[in-house]
Amino acid sequence: MAIHDGDRIVYLVTGASRGIGLEYVKQLLERGDSVIAAARNPDNSGGLTTLAERHESQLTLVTMDVADPASIKAAATSISEAFPGGIDVLINNAGISGNLVMSSEQDEDEFRDILMINTLGPFLVTKAFLPLIRKGSKKQIVNISSGLGSIATAAQYLNGGASKHGVLKGADSPMARRQLGYRASKAALNMTTVALAVDLQEEGIILIAMCPGWVDTDMGSGTAGMLGVAKPPLTAPTSVAMQLKVVDGLTLEKSGTYFNHEGNIVPF
Ligand SMILES: NC(=O)c1ccc[n+]([C@@H]2O[C@H](COP(=O)([O-])OP(=O)(O)OC[C@H]3O[C@@H](n4cnc5c(N)ncnc54)[C@H](OP(=O)(O)O)[C@@H]3O)[C@@H](O)[C@H]2O)c1
Repeated sequence: MAIHDGDRIVYLVTGASRGIGLEYVKQLLERGDSVIAAARNPDNSGGLTTLAERHESQLTLVTMDVADPASIKAAATSISEAFPGGIDVLINNAGISGNLVMSSEQDEDEFRDILMINTLGPFLVTKAFLPLIRKGSKKQIVNISSGLGSIATAAQYLNGGASKHGVLKGADSPMARRQLGYRASKAALNMTTVALAVDLQEEGIILIAMCPGWVDTDMGSGTAGMLGVAKPPLTAPTSVAMQLKVVDGLTLEKSGTYFNHEGNIVPF
């Protein structure tokens, strides 16, 4: 049990202004945990300000742009002052998906931005908050990845094949030729997860990559039209409730695993 905020477990969630991140914050607060919600502009998030009114003693808002190393450092400094006992669980959730152009048409500047936000950002956040995670009791880091980062799945489309692991198990082929920047960023995030899991295992620190499923958020709904459905199959509340069951059940032996929201292992 964490003792740094009374008896509450302390979670830090990035990209907490909306979508999956905001839902993590909401569910963690509702079950009584202490939450640090990091967002580029926390005061502009109606969801966060409403939760702050309802759960004043449990919720801390902090400004953090994961694409800006100075912003990450400033957030780590202020949180280490506010939580000298450390934090227990870091959820690296912030992310962008980029445009749905064919992979061969991926824009260079956008590719760079995606890598910064989805890959380097979570690494820099992890590095900046490691001293606080080392002090925490749970020592868990959840990197929100995507099934689209699975190289094993992507390679199944070669020679006219169809995916056996994708969200729609083969029917998602219109997506297979798109979103190179996003896929590469999540594949690199997966390697970052495994590399750090190996490096930090002897310290008892657990890292996993988590695919939340195809979720009805601003990002998730962007691909619905292309796949011929009205909206993604999962709501954020359902996905996050399922993810939390996986996270709650983590042990050191599971460190380095690429899970989906159902707790199944996704092939790298
Ligand atoms: N939805 C899906 O189907 C799906 C599937 C697989 C994986 N994922 C992953 O799940 C995570 C959350 O996605 P979502 O569906 O909730 O997307 P979303 O609704 O578009 O929300 C994205 C969140 O990331 C934040 N963000 C973007 N750039 C940031 C930056 N530079 N610094 C800090 N925060 C930043 C956004 O903040 P602002 O409000 O400031 O823009 C927002 O809070 C992402 O990592 C995504 O790749 C989603």
